[in-house]
Amino acid sequence: MISAKILGVGSYVPPRIWKNDDLASLLDTSDEWIRQRTGIEQRHWVEGNVTTSDLAASATERACASAKIRVDEIDCIVFATLSPDHEFPGSGCFLQAKLGLSGVPAFDVRQQCSGFLYGLSLADQYVKSGMFRRVLVVGAEVHSKGLNKTPAGRDVTVLFGDGAGAVIVGPCEGSVTEKDSQIYSTHLHADGQFAKELWIAAPGMANGNERMNAAMVEEGLHYPKMNGKAVFMHASKRMPEAILEALEKNGKKVEDVDLFLFHQANLRINEMVGKQLGIPSEKIFNTIQSFANTTAATIPIGMDEAVKAGKLKKGMLVASAAFGSGFTWASTLFRW
Ligand code: UT7
Repeated sequence: MISAKILGVGSYVPPRIWKNDDLASLLDTSDEWIRQRTGIEQRHWVEGNVTTSDLAASATERACASAKIRVDEIDCIVFATLSPDHEFPGSGCFLQAKLGLSGVPAFDVRQQCSGFLYGLSLADQYVKSGMFRRVLVVGAEVHSKGLNKTPAGRDVTVLFGDGAGAVIVGPCEGSVTEKDSQIYSTHLHADGQFAKELWIAAPGMANGNERMNAAMVEEGLHYPKMNGKAVFMHASKRMPEAILEALEKNGKKVEDVDLFLFHQANLRINEMVGKQLGIPSEKIFNTIQSFANTTAATIPIGMDEAVKAGKLKKGMLVASAAFGSGFTWASTLFRW
């Protein structure tokens, strides 16, 4: 059986920064509230007609440079996003055209905050089976165009940022020992009974006999709605469970792990997960302070930032977990 590994990582965020104070009067919020409740200090939001696939294309070019491959060596695209360029076709197709990869298969993964890890799992299986050799997994979001930027939307709007992160997954060469770079396992879960705890109702084919109309817009059904407390509670339980599942599968303990890359929804969630698992805080790499929640992009952005900061070095054992809308949750254990 072939083993798969992450060959390289890259990320891209749009240049325009919105500090918490920049949102204060717009949303009737404050820097103090946002920092205390979430840890967020700022977020990047796109300007003009920049799209999710534009951000993904920039992250992809950087991931290819990091993996030392040409863009035209990518033989499969897995694009995780909840903020697609258009409802259909999938954003993977728009990205594929921008990358000039005509003929290469392009998937969209719709698993929200867990989308990157779901995508990584697909890539891992494809590489292990020998079907593809250079799989792009990209998580990208443009949230800013879809948020309610009035005080009525402040509970959700302050949380989200725009950005993209990408990895290239490929086969390990030669005989692989336990100490070599590799993806050991991925673990995927969902519980659809909580689907409406964090969702966007419209447009949608389940809205009576019209997918979208003026009354739905008037009601704000096109904006994300979240039961923050329920999401917080489930995330704090499911992420530690998913990490333990990955460790158990591979005969490892929490203390064997060199770095934890968690989804970035709330600094307090990650602190609670760390506390439950007894992880020293310096082993948890957080980026929410600078980028807020970029949903499918948080984990690859974190990976890239950790490399740049010298916190993620070759040979390190890394555990990663995510939780979000669906509910979906997932984890992986890999050696960098
Ligand atoms: O990645 C997707 C997954 N998402 C998550 O994991 C998010 C999980 N949930 C959370 O992180 C937290 O629930 C939030 C950060 C979203 C909210 O924190 P909270 O401590 O649960 O606050 P709350 O919703 O209970 O609201 C507390 C108060 C309310 O005022 P009253 O009723 O106590 O007077 C809200 O109206 O804070 C108010 N509030 C705000 N105030 C200033 C809510 N949003 C804001 C805001 N600025 N942006």
